[in-house]
Amino acid sequence: MTAPSASASSSSASLPPPPWALLAELTHACPLHCPYCSNPLDLARRCGELTTEEWADVLRQAGELGVVHTHLSGGEPLLRPDLERIVAAAEDAGIYTQLVTSGTGLDEARLAALTEAGLRSVQLSVQHADPRAGDRIAGRDGSFAAKEHAARLVRRAGLPLGLNVVLHRGNLDAVDALVDLAVDWGADRVELANTQYYGWGLLNRAALLPTRDQLARARETVERRREQLAGRMDLVWVVPDYFDGVAKPCMGGWGAVSLTVAPDGTVLPCPAAASIPGLDPPCVRDRSLAWIWRHSPAFNRFRGTDWMTGPCRSCPRREEDFGGCRCQAFALTGDAARTDPACALSPDHHLVREQTEADRPAPPPYVHRRPGAAPLPAPARPAVT
Ligand code: SF4
Ligand code: FES
Repeated sequence: MTAPSASASSSSASLPPPPWALLAELTHACPLHCPYCSNPLDLARRCGELTTEEWADVLRQAGELGVVHTHLSGGEPLLRPDLERIVAAAEDAGIYTQLVTSGTGLDEARLAALTEAGLRSVQLSVQHADPRAGDRIAGRDGSFAAKEHAARLVRRAGLPLGLNVVLHRGNLDAVDALVDLAVDWGADRVELANTQYYGWGLLNRAALLPTRDQLARARETVERRREQLAGRMDLVWVVPDYFDGVAKPCMGGWGAVSLTVAPDGTVLPCPAAASIPGLDPPCVRDRSLAWIWRHSPAFNRFRGTDWMTGPCRSCPRREEDFGGCRCQAFALTGDAARTDPACALSPDHHLVREQTEADRPAPPPYVHRRPGAAPLPAPARPAVT
């Protein structure tokens, strides 16, 4: 899909184009403990989660705003006993639903109820092609077997199945085997997503960062398998921006195509944006989704290109990559408005290069995602000015 213009303005005379996608983080609770989890270090407490009625209202508002696709995600969305009712609310709002799940806890009856409610597709996370290695990364015994079972149920139910693999030092050498596994499990699509280093990923960066050789081999494998599987399976490679010297067009631009609703109703331009101090993201309990999208300072802060500083301001690529990732800029420099240090043109690029060029013969153990497992760093200086 094509992203709306990156130069969207927020003035009342020129409202931003509507979003087309909503990431609904139904809960941060999860039976797995992946060390690169995209949930914040400060996991939302279950007692603060939106109710069924509140989610139904969010989805109704999203449909009116123009959203056509929602990822029902978490944490593990299957832990919400009202998931069927949330799927039905999305269906009523005319929104295509994809369940983003670890597969843990999915059984035939639950999948039948979800399908009956209107669920359209399933994306299953996979940690490794080897069961023991997968369980070790996920921090839970039996997780691989649960995924295999879930994949079988999804195929039997006739729903499209996608696999999502976050790639890192511990599984990049298994890309060939992962693609074999996807073929074996009957997946229609595999997303091979190189780790993004903020939140838990940044905390575990020394353990997760691959070597250049690993990446080169994996890239060759993906090219070869893509050719081999053309027309049968989509193989998506999400770039390792640390190594390419090229900033990624994060989220298709800030406030450009999608929004994230966190379990407690906080509405964010991306799942990691709550880490940016001073952003003051609004809550759907206080404001309408339409107001948040169109008028909230948080969504307008980095929308378009007017906010840009440094090399981005006059760069010919600024409407293609939107200056990269704001959360990464903040995580590495303490200032979310700086050029993403992943870009080779950034004055802070050495912060990334130092990491990729460092000799790391023995990576440290993972800090598995668990409430209280991560220290919550105080920012050195305000990120939003
Ligand atoms: Fe993108 Fe900014 Fe780098 Fe140009 S300077 S390539 S706009 S991140
Ligand atoms: Fe937040 Fe990239 S993850 S802008």
